[in-house]
Amino acid sequence: MSRSTTTARLLPGGPVADQILAEVAGDVRALRAAGVNPSLATVLVGDDDASAGYIRIKQRQAADLGFASPHVHLPASASQADLHAVLADFSADGSVHGVLVQHPIPAHLDYDRALEVLAPDKDVDGMHPVNMGRLALGLPGPLPCTPAGIEALLAYHGVPVAGREVVILGRGATLGRPLAMLLAQKRPTANAAVTVVHTGVADWPRYTRRAEILVAAAGVPGIVRPEHVRPGAVVVGGGVRYEGRRLLPDVDESCAEVAGAITPRVGGVGPTTVAMLFRNAVRAAGRAVRP
Ligand SMILES: NC(=O)c1ccc[n+]([C@@H]2O[C@H](COP(=O)([O-])OP(=O)(O)OC[C@H]3O[C@@H](n4cnc5c(N)ncnc54)[C@H](OP(=O)(O)O)[C@@H]3O)[C@@H](O)[C@H]2O)c1
Repeated sequence: MSRSTTTARLLPGGPVADQILAEVAGDVRALRAAGVNPSLATVLVGDDDASAGYIRIKQRQAADLGFASPHVHLPASASQADLHAVLADFSADGSVHGVLVQHPIPAHLDYDRALEVLAPDKDVDGMHPVNMGRLALGLPGPLPCTPAGIEALLAYHGVPVAGREVVILGRGATLGRPLAMLLAQKRPTANAAVTVVHTGVADWPRYTRRAEILVAAAGVPGIVRPEHVRPGAVVVGGGVRYEGRRLLPDVDESCAEVAGAITPRVGGVGPTTVAMLFRNAVRAAGRAVRP
């Protein structure tokens, strides 16, 4: 492992998430006082230890925030039809406001097809095609959690985004593509000049080196190195790969020697992603009573 001298200001996600979750807890209390019992259903398929752990953490957090959280655990042998049946039931159940499917799901199942069975307004991941369409059109709806968390993280830490050059490395559906749409929207915490680079742009460092804000969204460990970063730039590490429980970020830690500000290796974009999930859930509950 390389050793580095951190000179960049750190941009932790924890305090951002705490602030969002405090707002969520307040909104849950207000809804309960108005006779609504916010409910976030969770679905786990299979017996992967890491996924089971993540869903337990989210259920505990849901309970702490005051959500009811009905849970369905399907066996690893579950069919696509089994998964669709669970999602159709939750979609039709008026007492359930949000539904979270822990992914990855077993390889024989198609997550994207399953998502289409879910009522778009209950999609707390913000990944349903209808919600992606709403994002593209600037209409209200659940936002994809990691991109929304990154916008919140930059705003919380006072990083100006409007009018600045943002370069995103990666055009994936979870992160790069929706983040580009979000940060290009006309809003004080967005309104940026956004460029997206990917494997089709062989000389992508030419773009990242001019970025005032660089977001790594590739899922390729260590792909972003100091020579790809403009001195003083803000670097956001979104992409990660897991080897078991070991987290391998896109951004090499030596980038901290060049960047002006950088998300920490652990505790950056992760906590804000989870906070946005709960924000989507409480907003879904609010919409259910005030459509
Ligand atoms: N921290 C969190 O909480 C969180 C949450 C969600 C996702 N993530 C992470 O975010 C990352 C992106 O996820 P995703 O689903 O949006 O993306 P994805 O579908 O995995 O796509 C990765 C993107 O990176 C590009 N890419 C890969 N290798 C590259 C290379 N060598 N040079 C240039 N571009 C390259 C790909 O280009 P092509 O399109 O040309 O193939 C693609 O656009 C993943 O690592 C994921 O784990 C993190």
